Amino acid sequence: MRRVSIEKVQSGMRLAKSIYSEDGQVLLGTGVELKETYIERLRNFNISEIYIEDELSKDIDVKDVINDRTRQEAKTLIRNIMEECKNTSQFTSDKVKGMVNHIIDELLANKDILINLSDLKTVDDYTFAHSVNVCVLSLITGIKLGLNQLRLRDLGVGALLHDIGKIVIPENILKKPARLDDNEFNVIKTHTTLGYDIVKNNPNISASSAYIVLAHHERYDGSGYPLCIKGDNIHLFARIVAIADVYDALTSDRVYRKKVKVHEVIEYITTLGEHHFDKTIVECFLENIAVYPVGTGVILSTGEKGIIVDVNKRFPARPIVRVVCNPDGSRKNAFEEIDLTKTLNIMIRDTCEI
Ligand SMILES: [Fe+2]
Repeated sequence: MRRVSIEKVQSGMRLAKSIYSEDGQVLLGTGVELKETYIERLRNFNISEIYIEDELSKDIDVKDVINDRTRQEAKTLIRNIMEECKNTSQFTSDKVKGMVNHIIDELLANKDILINLSDLKTVDDYTFAHSVNVCVLSLITGIKLGLNQLRLRDLGVGALLHDIGKIVIPENILKKPARLDDNEFNVIKTHTTLGYDIVKNNPNISASSAYIVLAHHERYDGSGYPLCIKGDNIHLFARIVAIADVYDALTSDRVYRKKVKVHEVIEYITTLGEHHFDKTIVECFLENIAVYPVGTGVILSTGEKGIIVDVNKRFPARPIVRVVCNPDGSRKNAFEEIDLTKTLNIMIRDTCEI
């Protein structure tokens, strides 16, 4: 399978990964042949990319670190919790720990898989999909840092709930399709303290999980909010979630901007790492990210175009590429696969549409 943007999708293409609606229902299932009406529907749901199966991408398998069903269930859980909070500013669910334990088990079983960015978020279900992604990314980092099961669970619970305070922020500010003014930004900032008020007395939430909700926007150099603390005064869990949060936000389409390419986000986080984030945690975090996710189109230094077939955990920037197009854009008669860890004179120049 390979990833294509919705503008490049044509009728007759075959869907390789199911598309889910905001409430977890299957909109279009794996294997469906796309018709113009389906494509229109995907556009209406603000879906910007899908996975398709074709001759070029045969046998390319995009593995996810957690399975589709777990992801959907986690999304539904956080959605229900936030719905409940909307009216009562509290939630009664005791399922959060169980869900996080389940995610941890799957991550431990899939230790060798790099994050492939395989979740297809829509702009509309952003908050829920983002919460699950931040949970997964934080846990993977926590596993890398050697945290024990109990600490992982507390980290995962806080990460899943980190933006719970957004439920009390007015939608017109939260979904404003333009840059926020100072007043609006000050309102957004309150999601940390308001979220903390929701979780701090909940018997199912530990103090360290609740702290993540309060402190995930603190920055290592003290430039964050709401406490403006710096360095190791920020609890380890909040330092981890801060990186996962920024990474996932930047790699997602938002109402006010398009997503940024993974390799550009990695560069951004590495550069900011010195100031905003804990450098050691940034290094651990990045070890789990596929710089060029499987199924992505890339342009090589030779001018040829290819699709990422597999990634190498030890050399994330040097994956295996199936070369499918000549430098002039014409399709090759036979596809060759190059392992960039062995062919050092060829590099990836950028990602591209094929
Ligand atoms: Fe936040």
